[in-house]
Amino acid sequence: MALKCAIDLGIPSAIHRNGGSASLPDLLATLPIAENKRPFLHRPMRFLTVSGIFTSADDGVYQLTRVSRLLVDSIPLNLLPFARGAVNENSRKMSETSGNFHTVFTRNFRSFLCLGEWFRDGGDTTPFAMAHGMDVWGAMSLDRALATGFSASMAANSKFLAEIAIRRHAEAFMNVSSLVNVGGGDGSMARAIVKAFPHIKCLVLDLPHVVRGIPADGFVECVAGDMMDFVPPANVVLLKLVLHDWSDEDCVRILSRCREAISNREGGKVIIIDTVIGSQSQQIYEAQLFLDLCMMTVTTGKEREEKEWHMIFLKAGFTQYKILPILGIKSLIEVYP
Ligand SMILES: C[S@@+](CC[C@H](N)C(=O)[O-])C[C@H]1O[C@@H](n2cnc3c(N)ncnc32)[C@H](O)[C@@H]1O
Repeated sequence: MALKCAIDLGIPSAIHRNGGSASLPDLLATLPIAENKRPFLHRPMRFLTVSGIFTSADDGVYQLTRVSRLLVDSIPLNLLPFARGAVNENSRKMSETSGNFHTVFTRNFRSFLCLGEWFRDGGDTTPFAMAHGMDVWGAMSLDRALATGFSASMAANSKFLAEIAIRRHAEAFMNVSSLVNVGGGDGSMARAIVKAFPHIKCLVLDLPHVVRGIPADGFVECVAGDMMDFVPPANVVLLKLVLHDWSDEDCVRILSRCREAISNREGGKVIIIDTVIGSQSQQIYEAQLFLDLCMMTVTTGKEREEKEWHMIFLKAGFTQYKILPILGIKSLIEVYP
């Protein structure tokens, strides 16, 4: 909540604009803070400094850390839309006027409040569905502001991760002539791949309400469909942050459709970008487990250890895989038939 407050107030961007460091008076001079709240600002700042979001020497001057640099609006490839929990101006206005929960952040927050009740309840619904009366994909299809905000949030994540994944693991995309990005959202990942490898013919498959909102740009083709039933044929199927939304049984079903899509194709493989639980770093390990609780609360999915990934690959008829770390909690997994 303190981080959300700092993001809402634009504190990382204000520190950056001030030359990379700012005292409390510097911040108060530029931030939109009411007169009677000025004496309070040092308290979230003190907490966020101890949490590693900012640093501060004894002189009381705050500086950005590697984390808060990702939250500066003028830095290209920032993660602000992602960290905001998809609170965009439109969704904020709609939430305020209707009193509904139109943002991913507020929807998820409400779902987390149901977690204890969910453990006691014998039903097979998710905490998200308990809180909102429908599953997360149903809510997105009915709530345009929620879907738009979620899409903006995932697009920021994709642009950021695509750049790093492509730089670190370019060989994964070389010699690929066609690629279908299953559950590819607004196509940001596919677009980044085509820009880096213009010879790849890229297709995005997603649900109808998602595909409807993607403007044609000549870079990627988008088709509406259900990955549980059919995945269009291609040399490579890419699944980024998709399988962690689904149970093992559903993942086996999705991966089986992917295997059919690449069958008899030269160099056929599936590329998964997701988490493999079990980092040497305590911070990354904790973040992986945190994301696992999010998946348990919002979806029917989970974050997986390598042995769990191995098991679903075997069940879906694949024979080999290779795990390549990307950055932080994310890895790229190549899976071969
Ligand atoms: C967590 S998002 C990931 C989006 C994108 N891959 C990214 O990383 O930015 C999961 C995506 O799966 C899509 N999806 C959910 N159910 C689907 C289905 N049955 N068939 C195709 N796509 C689906 C959602 O609409 C959403 O775009």
